[in-house]
Amino acid sequence: MAAGEIRLRDVLTGDLPVFFQNQLDPDANRMAAFTAKDPADREAFDTHWARIMADNSIHIQTITLDSEAIGHVLSYQQAGATEVSYWIAKKYWSRGVASQALRAFLLKHSGRPLHARAAKDNIASLRVLEKCGFAITAVDRGYANARGEEIEEFVLRLDAPRAA
Ligand SMILES: CC(C)(COP(=O)(O)OP(=O)(O)OC[C@H]1O[C@@H](n2cnc3c(N)ncnc32)[C@H](O)[C@@H]1OP(=O)(O)O)[C@@H](O)C(=O)NCCC(=O)NCCS
Repeated sequence: MAAGEIRLRDVLTGDLPVFFQNQLDPDANRMAAFTAKDPADREAFDTHWARIMADNSIHIQTITLDSEAIGHVLSYQQAGATEVSYWIAKKYWSRGVASQALRAFLLKHSGRPLHARAAKDNIASLRVLEKCGFAITAVDRGYANARGEEIEEFVLRLDAPRAA
């Protein structure tokens, strides 16, 4: 369990340097796989974040641990489906932060089904999704910038709970 209080709030401009630092981490990039072409390109990062923060179809929340911004969770439209994703600062990994943050996000965003994607070898992300009720529905392939090659990824889905 996270040794502190996990909360979600709207993104503030002051959070962006934290997200950029998270994006620079080579291990995180390898895990996420389908990443920015050049994670160190701050201009491209700023352009991307300005675009997604202005897009009403994208819901982004900053994840805080004891009020400190440590990552983000978002949902966006992809080929007619709503997908979720998230990224946490490496020093807080394996403390349950992503699982708690995604659970909180799912409570705020009641639309279902929701989809997610994770590289087949992104065990931590697959575990987070599994703990939050997502189930694998398909395998897809795509070019992963962080790997420099095409790789396989799992497609997952979260449905509304069945009525009793
Ligand atoms: C993936 C990521 C969000 C996970 O965040 P986190 O806060 O460490 O996740 P949690 O602690 O809530 O849960 C991780 C789970 O995976 C497990 N896990 C982590 N690495 C593992 C491994 N190599 N093998 C098996 N299990 C592993 C943990 O034990 C934990 O499961 P548990 O609670 O049952 O013990 C984080 O590593 C990250 O930001 N990575 C870079 C960006 C990324 O990959 N985003 C997802 C894109 S699909």
